[in-house]
Amino acid sequence: MKEIKKITCIGAGYVGGPTMSVIAQKNPDVEVTVVDLNHARIAAWNDEDLDKLPVYEPGLDAVVGEARGRNLFFSTEVDRAIDEADMIFISVNTPTKTYGKGKGQAADLKFIELCARQIAAVAKNDKIVVEKSTLPVRTAEALKNILENTGNGVNFHILSNPEFLAEGTAVTDLHNPDRVLIGGEDAEAIEALVNVYAAWVPRERILTTNLWSSELSKLVANAFLAQRVSSINAISELCEVTGANVDEVARAIGQDSRIGGKFLKASVGFGGSCFQKDILNLVYIARTYNLHEVADYWEQVIIMNDHQKTRFAEKIIQTMYNTVNGKHIAFLGWAFKKDTNDTRESAAIYVADHLLDEEAQVVVYDPKVSAEQIYRDLDYLGTRSPEDNRRLLKVVDNAYEALDGAHAAAILTEWDEFKGYDWAKVKEGMKKPSFVFDGRKLLDRKELNRLGFAYYAIGE
Ligand code: NAD
Ligand code: UDX
Repeated sequence: MKEIKKITCIGAGYVGGPTMSVIAQKNPDVEVTVVDLNHARIAAWNDEDLDKLPVYEPGLDAVVGEARGRNLFFSTEVDRAIDEADMIFISVNTPTKTYGKGKGQAADLKFIELCARQIAAVAKNDKIVVEKSTLPVRTAEALKNILENTGNGVNFHILSNPEFLAEGTAVTDLHNPDRVLIGGEDAEAIEALVNVYAAWVPRERILTTNLWSSELSKLVANAFLAQRVSSINAISELCEVTGANVDEVARAIGQDSRIGGKFLKASVGFGGSCFQKDILNLVYIARTYNLHEVADYWEQVIIMNDHQKTRFAEKIIQTMYNTVNGKHIAFLGWAFKKDTNDTRESAAIYVADHLLDEEAQVVVYDPKVSAEQIYRDLDYLGTRSPEDNRRLLKVVDNAYEALDGAHAAAILTEWDEFKGYDWAKVKEGMKKPSFVFDGRKLLDRKELNRLGFAYYAIGE
């Protein structure tokens, strides 16, 4: 079997960066080069100051610090890295299509295809090409076609190796994965990739399957996880009208080992770059095979999630006497979950958009998200002009400043620091009645009530 000495990864994003850093950390004899077209991103990965890495993940600075310059490199020289590699991971973005056939549902594979064409054009010896991006089932077939028909007569073995890390816990997930999944046809190529992971992952946790099972399993894993969140969120609404408490219900059902306790935390709605995109993709695939009941079943997970975000915004408006016009609402959190600076599909964006439509004055504080990113997220929606977004929404870098003079606080992300605030002091500075809308069930109801807040939490 061919020994892997050089690995290249195309795409230095939230997956490519951390994944390759850990592969390099655990395989000091393998040279790992991560390439990207985005020069600013590569410069940030190479920044001396490890606080400036483009992806914030607890523990990532230490991993990069250990391997970078030793056997981990970040570069914009894509052709050279392709040429030199034995194994090439493709970890580029696969967003939902925003145009043409499948708009709003199908995965946009243009970046994947570009990578395949570039690999085909550059490669002069045999390569193992690994799909790390999340892809529609049977994409490997298209990749193979492109590589074989435009290549220089070299052999390509295609593997599917979807990534299951969650943001915010990427490093611990990578160090200690529940499983690593490798799909492929060629036993030697599979074994070569198994060996890379076996440097730190016990063999029994490295699963091998055929290509199509591996590609499909990634979409299905995300669909199942998101489905649990939508299921508990559906129940949260029922709890609010019946006097049941959704945390108590979650605990009661989660104790059943057949159900399990994870991913049953009711929230303002799931966000992140994966869940919505991958379910929409699954729905689209089912429809292309005319499996309409299957498509409708999974689509409901998204419909429920959209409902939860809208419901939270409407709860704020309704509780504040049916108008938020001119009212100061402090947003605690903008990221889609704690411990990440990623805001893709964050519930906060949609809740803010809804409140801005009602002319609320929103003041946002998030410990890791920049003002530029927050305005970019809002402007991207195209609901109103960039000037209006800046007139109605302000971003501050101190939570107490966001809360000072506020009519209401809304918790959109479950950052730990929010729990430790001096809420008695916050109360003094807020307008009366002082509303708190807890979209993450983070704070202690009894304590907040004792301090005199009007406290609303999802599912209670
Ligand atoms: P990302 O947008 O953070 O990073 C992708 C990078 O690829 C970008 O920096 C982009 O500039 C680069 N790129 C695009 N085309 C390129 C090309 N032709 N040559 C060189 N560079 C190119 O995306 P991400 O979050 O890292 O996700 C990557 C893939 O992994 C997606 O398919 C996603 O669904 C999947 N995934 C993501 C997560 C997650 O938590 N973010 C988890 C599992 C799987
Ligand atoms: C997800 C998958 O977990 C991961 O395996 C895959 O590789 C990428 O997609 P990620 O989106 O990074 O990871 O985070 P995750 O922890 O799954 O959370 C997704 C969203 O669901 C967040 O907005 C989170 O706040 C929300 N969520 C999660 C809940 O609202 N309740 C829960 O119980 C769990």
